[in-house]
Amino acid sequence: MKKTFSPRVSGIEISGIRKIFEAAVPGSINLGLGQPDFDTPQYIKDAAIAAIQEGKTGYTGNTGIPELRDAICEKFKKENGLTCTPDQLIVTAGASEALHIVMQALVSEGDRVLCADPGFVSYSALATLAGGRPVGVPLDNNFHIDVERAKELMKGARLFVLNSPSNPTGAVEPKDTIRAIVEYANDCNVTVVSDEVYEHFIYGKEHWSAARFGDNVITINAASKTYAMTGWRLGYLAAPSDVVGQCLKVHQYCQACATSISQYAAVAAYTGDQKMVAVMRDEYRARRDLICAGLARLGFKFPTPEGAFYAFVPMKSALTQKIIERGVILVPGSAFGANAPEYTRFSYAASRENIQTALDRIEKAIRE
Ligand SMILES: Cc1ncc(COP(=O)(O)O)c(C=O)c1O
Repeated sequence: MKKTFSPRVSGIEISGIRKIFEAAVPGSINLGLGQPDFDTPQYIKDAAIAAIQEGKTGYTGNTGIPELRDAICEKFKKENGLTCTPDQLIVTAGASEALHIVMQALVSEGDRVLCADPGFVSYSALATLAGGRPVGVPLDNNFHIDVERAKELMKGARLFVLNSPSNPTGAVEPKDTIRAIVEYANDCNVTVVSDEVYEHFIYGKEHWSAARFGDNVITINAASKTYAMTGWRLGYLAAPSDVVGQCLKVHQYCQACATSISQYAAVAAYTGDQKMVAVMRDEYRARRDLICAGLARLGFKFPTPEGAFYAFVPMKSALTQKIIERGVILVPGSAFGANAPEYTRFSYAASRENIQTALDRIEKAIRE
């Protein structure tokens, strides 16, 4: 049988991050992962166990259980200064599904989808899968969005994907930039998709939700990073009701609902004591300081990451390759777009001990 595949799928590459893991040597220190190395807090696990024991294991309503949607509305009010009603929310299988259904619902053939380059790997792939045309938005030397350049690109575009704090750069966009993007997008009839999954991991700056500045914004978030729940697959999107109505059709047919057990766990996460989030943030900050000081000592110059758990460092690809071969998993900048081939992403979602061992191995690789 002759096999044929959809050109939309055969035309995209498997993630560059996956390729690195496949090439890793045994005993490597992993500074490649985009996930917290903390365990999910016990009170969240307990809520999931209770849900299983109480038989809350069937399909839920497509948009999510009412308790969780209420808790997310309350979170938006308290943490983000946003007013949101439960009918403006869809609970999804992680932020990834939310991004996918938004692209499917809003992007038409050939539509331009603007996203930072370098930026999170999924945006351009999901835009392409939806038939759109991803267009990279260049960043300045500190990895911040070049607002004037972004405005030029905005005319005639369909979506602008904002991600602050950013994966892979760790940049946190200031209020003025976010406001300017949202307002200009509104003038140009462009919808802003604001991916805020790292909002709680910011070191000394403030997080501004894009939806504060206009109703042309779809907010995407997840329990994944905030509560160390990546494997639970629990995210959500918030948008005006007409947008939610269209996204819901895609969600209904491809996912039906987020995992029931994860939804009950997320109710505990969002309504419980938020102390653990601050503990994780403080630890990430200490790790950021450790890795940045270590890399600076080795002679690397790069903007101090302001948020998330990544440092994005100029490094020749041959050196990155050598370090990976010497047992430190890193992700080359080429995985994040076309604009940063001679950069490397370091994830500091790893213990301080592992970070120190990695720095020692890197020093040895440089001196060899
Ligand atoms: C910026 C960004 N958005 C979305 C995601 C996906 O999140 P989730 O695990 O909730 O699908 C990630 C995961 O690394 C990410 O870095």
